[in-house]
Amino acid sequence: MAVLHKNKIAKKLIRAVKDAVRLSYAPYSRITVAAGFYCAQGRIYTGVNIENSSYSLTMCAERVALYKAVSEGEKNFMLLLLYSPQINFITPCGACLQVLREFAPNLVIATMNKNEEFKFYLQEALLTKPFKI
Ligand code: THU
Repeated sequence: MAVLHKNKIAKKLIRAVKDAVRLSYAPYSRITVAAGFYCAQGRIYTGVNIENSSYSLTMCAERVALYKAVSEGEKNFMLLLLYSPQINFITPCGACLQVLREFAPNLVIATMNKNEEFKFYLQEALLTKPFKI
């Protein structure tokens, strides 16, 4: 949906992820990622990937954004926008999809490339069989 950037809300979210990605801490992979949630009442929460010298402790941008939002009481996730200047149309890893499913089962996931072009996915299409108890 290449029209996303014409909408006022979308512009705000795009600006938020482009600003946030500069705060990514990725000295090991050099892949910087930002995630931004658009929530009810127009609230926006961003997150960036945070790497660690003990590589497996790295945290993805999606989970940082989600945990920020949940810890501030957010319950209504409408859209997730992902952006990485180094990757053409980044999509969430499997671990993030499982975590997202817990709090935002009907989420629309948009991904933006460097040219501000977009692709859209439904969370349930990216993870068809989440783990459930
Ligand atoms: N990364 C994310 O932040 N989100 C994703 O969806 C996939 C990968 C980060 C983790 C790591 O810092 C870097 O990208 C390379 O894997």
